This record gives sequence, C-alpha cells and structure tokens, in this order.
Amino acid sequence: MRIVVTGGAGYIGSHAVRAMVGAGHEVRVLDNLSTGHRAAVDPAATLVEGDLRDRDALDRVLPGADAVLHFAARSVVAESVRQPLGYWDNNVGGTIALLAGMARHGVDRIVFSSTAATYGVPDALPIREDARQAPINPYGSTKLAMEQLLAEQAVARPTFAACVLRYFNVVGCAPGLMERHEPETHLLPILLQAAAGLRPAFQVFGEDYATPDGTCIRDYVHVEDLVDAHVLALAHLHPGRVSTYNVGLGRGFSVREVVDRVRELTGRTFEVRAAARREGDPPSLFTDPARIREELGWRPTRDLDDAIRSAWTALTEARR
Ligand code: UFG
Repeated sequence: MRIVVTGGAGYIGSHAVRAMVGAGHEVRVLDNLSTGHRAAVDPAATLVEGDLRDRDALDRVLPGADAVLHFAARSVVAESVRQPLGYWDNNVGGTIALLAGMARHGVDRIVFSSTAATYGVPDALPIREDARQAPINPYGSTKLAMEQLLAEQAVARPTFAACVLRYFNVVGCAPGLMERHEPETHLLPILLQAAAGLRPAFQVFGEDYATPDGTCIRDYVHVEDLVDAHVLALAHLHPGRVSTYNVGLGRGFSVREVVDRVRELTGRTFEVRAAARREGDPPSLFTDPARIREELGWRPTRDLDDAIRSAWTALTEARR
C-alpha cells in the first residue's frame, strides 16, 4: 500500500513509519518538524517537510495514497491550557485541511490518533469506549473535535472509512529509536533521565489523590504494541464507518509503582521529591481492552518492564 503518515518524525509516528516500511509499504511522511526529528524518519520513507495547513504540502503527499495514518498534533496538556488557540488551530485546523485534501485526492481511509484525554475524569473504571467524553483540557477538547469531524465526514462521504484509536499512556521504544521531546514532560523519560543523573531529582506531581498510594494511576502501553494496533486497524476499515478503540493494557500503575520499577530495572538510585499536583491530571485512567481484543484481535506482547528496559537501553546508547 501507499501510506501517508502525518507526524511521522514524532515519537509514535516514527515507530509507525519504521513498521510500515518493514511491512513493504511505500511511505510518505508529512511533518513540519516543529517537535519531530528528521533523523527519526526511516530513510526508506519519503519525508515532505510541511504543515498540514499548507495545501501544497498535502497536494504533494496525498496523490495516489491508499490510506493515511494521522499522528500530527500538538499533545502537551499543560501547554494546551496556556495556548488553546494554538492547539485548536494546529490540531483541528490541520485535520480539517487534511480531510479536505483527502477528499480532493480521493483518499478514503484513515487511522486517527486520539487519546484517553477525551474522557476527562471518567465516571467509572475501567474506561470503555462508550464512556462519556468530557475533556478537562484544550488538548483533549481538540482531539474530541477531531473525532467528531471524522464521524461527520463519514456521513458526508459514504466511501470514507476511519478508525479512531484512543491511546492511553504510550511508553518504550524500538531498537534505534527513542522518545525525545523538548522540553520533556512525560513520566518515563523524565524518570530515566533522573536515573541516569541527567536531572537532580524526580518530582511526583501529587501524592494526595484518591488512589491506593495517593499518586496518579495510568495504563502504560508499549509503542510497538500500539503500532501493531495501527496495522490491525488499517486492515479493518469499512466504508461509511468510523470504528473506535481504546488502546491500553487494562492494568493501571501508580506513579510510585513506576518509580519503583525504574529503580529496580536500572539499578540506579535517585532522589524522589513530592511536588504539587499538575494542572489537568485526572487521578486514574485505565482501559477495558475487551473491544480491541475481540474486534481487531489485538494481543499486546510487551509490558511496562519491557518498555522501561527498551527506553533505558535507548538512553544509555544515545549517551555513548
Ligand atoms: N508525572 C510526575 N512527574 C513528572 C512527570 C509526570 O509525577 O515529572 C506524573 C503525571 O502527573 C501523571 C503521570 O506521571 O500522573 C503520567 O504523566 P505523563 O505526562 O507521562 O502522561 P499523561 O498521563 O499526562 O498524558 C499522556 C499523554 C497525553 C495523553 C494522555 C492520555 O502525554 O498526550 O497520556 O492518558 F492524552
């Protein structure tokens, strides 16, 4: 297949590009390199440096494409609270432009990266796909709006087929790739930097949540298992339909538990400090993985320990 990957220079997108190239697909990447890295793009893919809102860039990558994997988005919750207009412009504006481009070029199939952040603070756990979506930050609001755009486009264009994957917390990396954000805000890379002595200490954002140890609980999915979900999603697209799946393992780990796993697996000691809650953090998010297992046959094969080991290897190799 000919596959267009938006955001293919980013953390998750670059893993997807690698997998698609490996499966023999012809891959074109559209990325404005605002947060992505040129070097992360598999050399067998064609990289077009450009923005989704740039019609010319879309007109270069879309002709002849069979499907789109749409990763490109700004995704830092705290930043979205400070810059809602920028998030709506980039994420929703970019998706409108992409869908218009797909219609222009007769490209009908898309797999879209959505997020558990569209649920906000869930009414019940584990979270099922039919749970109420009530985001508590602009990042989540933009992703929910993008989901709605896809649903409305499927009504307007009967040939259109979409799969929405609502990711929980994505961690780990494939050999030779790594998670790199500037600045880094995510738990695992920050913890590993502390373990490597690159940060003076690790801060736990909030120890007074209504969870067993008082710290936030998340469902950590290995990026390579997440990419496998995209491969399955691509094979299960049906014209006129939008399918939606949560992607997580269905098991929650608290921040304190992740700290303990990192200490044990790296063998390093580092200072851990209690800090104030971070704005926009729901106490507990973990999925019920039944739907994606039953309908797509998704079987994750890696756990949090595998993710920690892979990311630690990547960090230590990058420092050599
Ligand atoms: N945390 C700390 N200290 C840190 C960094 C994070 O205690 O230095 C805590 C956070 O407060 C949170 C947990 O670790 O409780 C996970 O934080 P991350 O920033 O790694 O991930 P989030 O759960 O905030 O967000 C991630 C993605 C979002 C996505 C969301 C869906 O970054 O894009 O998962 O659950 F929407």
